[in-house]
Amino acid sequence: MIKATKLTKRVLVENLRCEYLENPLAVDEPRPRLGWKLTDERKGARQTAYRIQVSRISSKLGAGEADLWDTQKVRSDESQHISFDGIALESRTRCFWRVQVWDEDDAPSDWSEIAFWEMGLLEKSDWVGDWIGLDLRDENEDAEYELPPSPYLRKGFSVGKKIKSARLYVTSLGLNEVWINGQRVGDRLLAPGWTDYRKRLYYNVYDVSDLVLEGENAMGAILSYGWYSGYIGYAVFVKHPKVKDFYGKGAAFLGQLEIEYSDGSREIIKSDASWKAKSGPVRKSDILMGESYDATKQLGKWKYPKYKDTDWLDCELIKCRPVELQAYPNEPVRFTQELPAVERHQDSKGNWVFDFGQNFAGVLRLSLKGKPGQTITLRHGEMLHEDGSLMTENLRNARATNVYVCSGASEGETWNPRFTYQGFRYAEVSGLEGEPELSSLTGLVMGSDTERVGSLSSSSPMINQLYQNIVWTQRANWVEIPTDCPQRDERLGWLGDAQIYIKSGMYNMNVAAFFKKWMRDVEDAQWKNGAYANFAPKPFNRPKYKYSPAWMEAGIICPYMIYRNYGDKRILETHYESFKKLVSFHLDLVGEGMVYEKGAFRNVTPSGGWGDWLSIGKKTPKFQIANLYFGYVLKLMEEIASVVGKQSDSEFYSRQLDRFQNAFMERYVSDEGWIEGETQTLCAMAIVLKVLPESMDSVNGKRLLAHIDASGGQMETGFIGTSVLMPALSEIGRSDIAYKFLCSVDFPSWGYAVVNGATTVWERWNSYSHEMGFYDPQMNSYSHYAFGAVCEWMFGHMAGIRSLAPGYRKVLLQPEATRFQDLNAATAHHDTLYGRIESSWTIEEDRCCWDVVLPANTSGLVRLPIACGEDLSLDGRRLSKKGEKYPLSKNGRFCEFALESGAYRITFSVHKFGEKESELVEEDTAQLGP
Ligand code: BGC
Repeated sequence: MIKATKLTKRVLVENLRCEYLENPLAVDEPRPRLGWKLTDERKGARQTAYRIQVSRISSKLGAGEADLWDTQKVRSDESQHISFDGIALESRTRCFWRVQVWDEDDAPSDWSEIAFWEMGLLEKSDWVGDWIGLDLRDENEDAEYELPPSPYLRKGFSVGKKIKSARLYVTSLGLNEVWINGQRVGDRLLAPGWTDYRKRLYYNVYDVSDLVLEGENAMGAILSYGWYSGYIGYAVFVKHPKVKDFYGKGAAFLGQLEIEYSDGSREIIKSDASWKAKSGPVRKSDILMGESYDATKQLGKWKYPKYKDTDWLDCELIKCRPVELQAYPNEPVRFTQELPAVERHQDSKGNWVFDFGQNFAGVLRLSLKGKPGQTITLRHGEMLHEDGSLMTENLRNARATNVYVCSGASEGETWNPRFTYQGFRYAEVSGLEGEPELSSLTGLVMGSDTERVGSLSSSSPMINQLYQNIVWTQRANWVEIPTDCPQRDERLGWLGDAQIYIKSGMYNMNVAAFFKKWMRDVEDAQWKNGAYANFAPKPFNRPKYKYSPAWMEAGIICPYMIYRNYGDKRILETHYESFKKLVSFHLDLVGEGMVYEKGAFRNVTPSGGWGDWLSIGKKTPKFQIANLYFGYVLKLMEEIASVVGKQSDSEFYSRQLDRFQNAFMERYVSDEGWIEGETQTLCAMAIVLKVLPESMDSVNGKRLLAHIDASGGQMETGFIGTSVLMPALSEIGRSDIAYKFLCSVDFPSWGYAVVNGATTVWERWNSYSHEMGFYDPQMNSYSHYAFGAVCEWMFGHMAGIRSLAPGYRKVLLQPEATRFQDLNAATAHHDTLYGRIESSWTIEEDRCCWDVVLPANTSGLVRLPIACGEDLSLDGRRLSKKGEKYPLSKNGRFCEFALESGAYRITFSVHKFGEKESELVEEDTAQLGP
C-alpha cells in the first residue's frame, strides 16, 4: 500500500441521507438506512468508528440527548446503509439525527449538521379521509383518444389558533396537483407516480406549515387521468382491445391536512363529501395525447379563501378498491431545466416551427398576448422533414399535441401543460398572429430529479457530443420509471433496455432510490410462473407477448447491479424470494438437459423472445441468448444467496451452474472451442458474463476477433450484444478495436448518429442519415438509451473507474489511456456514496500523465498494462525505471498497486493496445487452466 505524508486537516461529516434521500418527509421503512460522506483530503483518510444520535427534538440533540437512538461509539468503518435500530418508530415521528466519526488516529470529528427524516402514515387507520372526485366521463368520451376534462376540487376552512406545523398527506388515482391559499404545494409532476395500482399506490407528504394561515384558508386539487385511466402506449399501438382504464375509471383524490397548533392540539382537514367540485380550464389531458387548456373557462380565485363556490357541485364519494398506501420512495419528477428556442422557421405550408437545439422530454411554456378565444396549437416532433416541416410519423398514435385557448388578459398570459409530456426537439405552433417571437416558447425539461453524479469529456469533440447525447437520453427516459422512449405511444418500462443500460446510467445519476421503486414494479409484474414480464408496471396482459430471455432476467440483474454499485443489500433481501421464482422457472424449462434447445421459448411472441434486438448482420440464435442469460442468473444467484446469508441456497445455485456449464460444453461447444451459432454477440456475452468455464476465454476472444474480421471490421451487435462488445474487447486486450468502434463515424457506429445531427441516442444504428433520410418511420425513436450502454465502457475503461467492492468501497482504477485519431486525453468524475472519484489522463509524446482522486474511507487498486510498469512514477516519485518492472498482478498481465484515498499524479509510458496484448491474455488463460 502506498502511503503519503498526512496533512493536519480535520474530517467533515456531510451529505446525511436517509433511504438515499435528503431530509425525506415520507419514510415507511421500519428500519430506515442512514448514510453519510466524509470529506477529508488527507491521504489515507478512513473512518474507524461512528456515533449516531437520533432524537424527536432537534434542540435536545444539540445538547446530546437522543431519545430515539444513540449508538454510542461503534467501532466500524461503515458509513452507508446503517439500519436504524432504536425504539420502534410510529407514524409521523420526526427524527432529527447527527453523526460523529473517528479517524484512523481515533481522533473524533465535530458532529455533523443535524438532518432529519419523518415517518409517513404507517397504519391504515391513519388515513381518515374519503376518496372523492367528480365524474365527468360523459364529456369528450366518444371522440378518438379523448378523455374527460379535469375535475377541480376545493375546500374552504378556517383555522382559529396559532399553527406550529402542518403536513399535507395526499394521493390520487390518476394524477394530482395541489394548492393551498393560491400557492402550489411542492413541485412534483405526474404525482403520485406509476405503480401497479391494483397492488400499491404511493402518497406524497408536504410540509405546508408556511402555507396554512391563521384565519380563512382554501385547499384545492386538480386531477388528471394519467396512467391510472388514461391511454397507455403499446396498448394503443398494438390495437389491444382495451387502450385505457386499465386500473379503473375516472380519477379520485384522497388527502388530509394535519395541523399541529402551538397549544399542542391537532386538527385534520380531510377529503370528504363537504368538498366542492367542478370542471375547469383543463379540458383534456393525457400523458400520450397531450393537454388542452381553455383559459376562457378559468375559475377565478378558486384556490383562495373566501371564493364563492356556490355554483360548484358537491364532491362525489368514490368507491375505490382497497389498495396498499405507501410513501413515495424516490426522487420526484420535476422540471429540471429551461431551454430557450434557438431558431424558428416556416415550413413549406407556412407553419412556424421552433427548434430548441436539443431533443428532450418535457413540455413547452407558452407566453403571449392573445385575443379572447384565440387558439394556439403546439405539436411536437424529434426530427424535421426535408421541407422543414415536423416529422411526427414516429409518434405513431401518440397525438402529443397541446392546445391553449387564450383568455385575452391584457397583461399577457403564460401557460404550460401539467399532466402530460412529450419527447421532442422541434415544435410546430399554429394560431399565433404574425411572426412569432423566439421567446414565445420555452422548453421545460422534465424527468425524475435524480442527482447527477458523473461527468466525462475528452479531446474528441465527437465523443463529447456522444456522451452528452447519452446523458440527455437518460434524462428523457428515466421519468418515474426507466422507459424505452419518451415520444411515441409506448413509454413503457421495458426490462431488457433497463438491464442493458443500468451500469451506464449509474455512472451518470444516483438512481439507487429510483431503482428501489422500480424493482417493486418489476416484482409486482412478475408472472405466476416466475418469469418477469416484458415491461413493468404491467397494466395489461397480451396473451403471447409475455416474457423474453434477456428481458426477464432484468428482475435479478438490475437489483444485483444496484447492490454492486451502492452496496445495497436490502434490495437483494427484499426481492430474494421473487428472484428464486425466476430461477425455478428456468430450471423447470430446461429440465434434466440443463440447457435450452433450438426452438426454446417458441410459446412466446416473437418466437424465441426479442433476441439481440435491432442487430444488423449475422443473427444470434435466440436459444443461445436464453442459455447464456440462464447461466448468468445462476451465477448471480450463487453470489446473491451468500450475500443475504442463504449459504445452502448459494451452494445449490453453484451446483446448478456447474451442471449448466457441463451440459453447455457438451452440447454446444466443439472440440476447437467454437460455440454453436456463435456471433460477435455470443462471443462477447461469453467473455463478459463469465458463465462458461474460464478455459473458454481465450478461444472466445479469438472467435470474437474472427467474427469482427468476417464482418469487415464492423459491429454486428444489437441491444444485447452492444452492451457487452466493448468490455469484451478490453477484456481480451483489444481496446484498440474498441477505440476504433468508439471513434468511428461510419455506419454502424455511435459516431454515425452524431455526425448526422443526433442530440440524443437513437433506437437504431440507421435511424436516420443525411444521405438516406429516415429508416423506418414507425419504429424509430430518436431518444432510446439502449445503444447508449457504451457509456459504461467510457467510464469504466476509457477513464478507468470501476467498482471492485460493493458500493465502490474499493475502486479499480484502470484507465485504458491511448492515442487514437484526435483522442489523446480523457477526464471523468463519478460521485459514489463515499465521495468523488476523479480520473483524468493526457498523453504527450509517449508519456501519459494521469491524475486520480479517491474519496475518504475508500481504497483503490491501480491496474495498468504490464508495459506501463516500466518507468512509472507516483507524485514525482519513481516507482520503476526503464527496464525494470513494477510489481505484477497475479496473472502477470498488469502491473498493480494499491492506493489509499487522496489525490495522486501518476505518469507512465504510453502503451499501445493491440495484438501483442491479446497474446498475453492467452498466456494468462493458459496458466489458469480450466
Ligand atoms: C421498445 C424496446 C423494447 C422492445 C422489445 C420496443 O418497442 O421500444 O426498446 O425493448 O420493444 O423488443
